[in-house]
Amino acid sequence: MADAATAERTTTLPRTPPQILGPFYPFMHTPTDSGDLTGGGKAKGTILYLSGRILAADGQPVAGAKVEIWQANAAGRYAHPNDDNVGAPIDEKFNGFAVTTTDGQGRYAFKTVRPAAYPAAPGRWRPAHIHFSVTAKYEQLVTQMYFKGGEYNETDSWLNSASRKDLLITDPKPADGKEPGAQAVTFDIVLTRG
Ligand SMILES: [Fe+2]
Repeated sequence: MADAATAERTTTLPRTPPQILGPFYPFMHTPTDSGDLTGGGKAKGTILYLSGRILAADGQPVAGAKVEIWQANAAGRYAHPNDDNVGAPIDEKFNGFAVTTTDGQGRYAFKTVRPAAYPAAPGRWRPAHIHFSVTAKYEQLVTQMYFKGGEYNETDSWLNSASRKDLLITDPKPADGKEPGAQAVTFDIVLTRG
């Protein structure tokens, strides 16, 4: 008969659903490894302190995982040669591509801005999201993080294709002790083995 300790060891967290890589994975562009995509807070938009943990399905932290993020800026524009959303300006102060490595508790952290939604095709908009690629010892997961209440969340085919879209939707709150107006959000990612 399983005791409490056994039950704890066999905890199975739901795996974070994968999402498409998308067309704007950075090209000829080096990710910043400083953790700060905002140029010291100079980028336009709402500052977002984005952090979380990479976990295995058994709840153990995944240390040493590579976490990459890339995203549109606060106007909905990627600094990518194929982004034809030219009505939205590029923000020279914003570096929309970053990489870090998780610490011993599986933690990662970035300082970024909230991205805007953008037109993906005539008449079809993508809700605001941040792309993630997590590379650990045994597996790689590519996914996207969305925002609660985001315009177009209900109609986006990629978000709605997720087996558990609730696992991809985050809810930023005011960031205590940071710049006025800054927000903070936690996004934990669960792999199978790590
Ligand atoms: Fe995207």
